[in-house]
Amino acid sequence: PRVAVIVVAAGSGTRLDAGVPKAFVGLDDHTILRHCLRGIFEAPPMQVIVVAPSGREGDALTDADEAAGERRDLVTVVAGGSTRQASVAAGLSALWGDIEYVLVHDAARALTPPDVFDRVIGALEAGAAGVVPVMPVVDTIRQMDGETIVGVVDRSRLSAAQTPQGFPRGILEAAYAAAGEEFTDDAAVVAASGHAITTVPGDATAFKITTRADLERARALVSPLPH
Ligand code: CTP
Ligand code: MG
Repeated sequence: PRVAVIVVAAGSGTRLDAGVPKAFVGLDDHTILRHCLRGIFEAPPMQVIVVAPSGREGDALTDADEAAGERRDLVTVVAGGSTRQASVAAGLSALWGDIEYVLVHDAARALTPPDVFDRVIGALEAGAAGVVPVMPVVDTIRQMDGETIVGVVDRSRLSAAQTPQGFPRGILEAAYAAAGEEFTDDAAVVAASGHAITTVPGDATAFKITTRADLERARALVSPLPH
């Protein structure tokens, strides 16, 4: 394949506080990681690099093998680092030689539909240096000074960034090699190297499972029963 996806799954899930690393929390019979990978294996074939919590590589490989089926040769599992950025860097080191485009995806966005992947890859093939799926911001956002509101931000000028974010391989590798500080996401790392970032429509179901409420929402979405 010409495309690889780095699935970062090495976080501990502090805010979810489920007693196990977030990627291994169950939605139904299957974990967050397994659901995330199921969606990825419905997209066109890609090299799939799963970045697992150190010591949990075997569990990640089990989930990946089950989700991959006949595509299991596409899967590599590596251990992550102490920050998301370090985990992405670990994933970059496992890219195959012929890969031209790299997507970086949060395992915690377990229900991301395959067409978001299609849109990101399409924008890369059209020449983008960086692609971010975005959603409009629905809440009114206020600028604060301590506990006092000092302004309302025009939400038509805001959007919420999702993953998978996609980049030409050389651009992403060079930006990571140059990144001296922590950035909020991969597009910010690449933008800091001076590249323009384009957007494609995201999807409401690509929300990140961060809190207990998010977990309940994801569980309801995969439940076959009325609720
Ligand atoms: N991630 C990672 N390595 C880290 C930290 C985060 O691979 N050192 C991954 C997570 O596994 C997740 C994605 O980055 O899929 C987005 O991070 P987040 O939702 O913040 O997950 P956690 O860091 O695990 O959660 P928390 O911040 O609540 O601890
Ligand atoms: Mg985190």
